[in-house]
Amino acid sequence: MKATLLHVSVAAIMMLQLPLSEAYASETTKAMLAEFKADAARPFSSEAGNAAWTRDSDGRSCTSCHTDSVLAPGRHVRTGKVIEPMAPSVNSQRLTDRKKINKWFLRNCKWTFARECTAQEKGDILLWLSEQ
Ligand code: HEC
Repeated sequence: MKATLLHVSVAAIMMLQLPLSEAYASETTKAMLAEFKADAARPFSSEAGNAAWTRDSDGRSCTSCHTDSVLAPGRHVRTGKVIEPMAPSVNSQRLTDRKKINKWFLRNCKWTFARECTAQEKGDILLWLSEQ
């Protein structure tokens, strides 16, 4: 019993010591953040990432399909198809596949903002998502 309690508290302390940023970042996410950094003007900020994610562009935003909560399933605004939650804390498959991340950043930024996202925006968004 005592041993179990000790175990639990050690685990709790270790969890508290996890760096707040990139809390759920996969190895892929970390590598991509490092690469985007080379083309970014300032350090990535999850606040800026959250702002970009919710930014309205002629009635479109990332939340149009991913909805207001990244912890909940989304719904494609045109096809109505369900989209799995974006948060790695509830969906461990998220942000683990470089090809997939690049493909959807390209497609979704174009659809939402009518242009590609900059390395700065992608890094900010990826950082913010990796904390959710
Ligand atoms: C028109 C609907 C739609 C909009 C708007 C949208 N997405 Fe998505 N997004 C999808 C779909 C569909 C997928 C792929 C299905 C899946 O991953 O469950 C996806 C997947 C992604 C992925 C891949 C996640 C992973 O685990 O690899 C990223 C990153 C992403 N979206 C970012 C964005 C960003 C950033 C925006 C806003 C600029 C955005 N999305 C707006 C529909 C959308």
